[in-house]
Amino acid sequence: MPLRNNAKHWGAVQQAFHWLIVLLILAQGTIGLVMVNLPKKPSVFAIYNLHKSIGLTILALAVLRIAWRLFDGRPPHLPMPDWQRRVASLTHGALYVLLFAVPLSGWLFDSASALRPLHWWGLVRMPSLTGGPAPHLRHFAAGLHETLFWCLIVLAVLHAAAALRHHFVDRDATLRRMLPGRRQGDPDS
Ligand code: HEM
Ligand code: HEM
Repeated sequence: MPLRNNAKHWGAVQQAFHWLIVLLILAQGTIGLVMVNLPKKPSVFAIYNLHKSIGLTILALAVLRIAWRLFDGRPPHLPMPDWQRRVASLTHGALYVLLFAVPLSGWLFDSASALRPLHWWGLVRMPSLTGGPAPHLRHFAAGLHETLFWCLIVLAVLHAAAALRHHFVDRDATLRRMLPGRRQGDPDS
């Protein structure tokens, strides 16, 4: 499968970014929701560190993904009413913004709390976004992180529902061309 998009298909690179980030967001959201309900004891800090490192990885992947998207563009939209194309583009734009905003708000919360230095997978020391403890920001950043996460989930569910509708109701190639592999009747895949 070609690395770059062609007129009919998303290329392997954008497909890999899309589905890897989907899986990481699902894992990350689950870890986040579980960990905040665990008792605050030292053994749970390892789970917080895991959450922070996966979150920063998602942020790094989002940067690479945007860079590749600017370089490679996207396949042309399939024929659809104008309003649908506009809603799809707005949704995709908002999803991209949230892919940055959710991890950045988590990082902001961590910086404001400044409990201990933030390390990415125990290897790279990350800078503080607040330049030191910022108790006045803690509550705001925690609320922002949680709210943005739920906005991402709601939008992603609507977005997935639209993709499934295209596949099962309209029976067009919207979903198929975001999936790997050559398919019958699709010579350009
Ligand atoms: C796309 C990436 C991320 C997702 C989907 C995500 C998701 C979540 C979720 C669902 C929660 C639970 C919220 C609640 O119910 O209160 C949470 C909490 C938390 N997240 Fe993230 N997170 C991400 C990235 C990050 C990053 C990069 C950091 C820090 C570097 C981080 C630090 C935290 C912390 C410290 C909490 C606990 C907040 C509290 O105690 O109220 N998160 N996250
Ligand atoms: C966390 C979950 C998800 C996020 C953040 C997400 C994000 C995105 C983004 C930003 C785009 C636009 C790509 C671009 O224009 O560069 C996109 C496209 C797409 N997504 Fe998702 N997505 C998610 C889940 C899903 C799921 C579950 C499905 C399928 C059921 C899906 C199917 C698609 C399809 C088919 C496209 C291509 C649409 C087109 O050709 O216009 N996505 N996704």
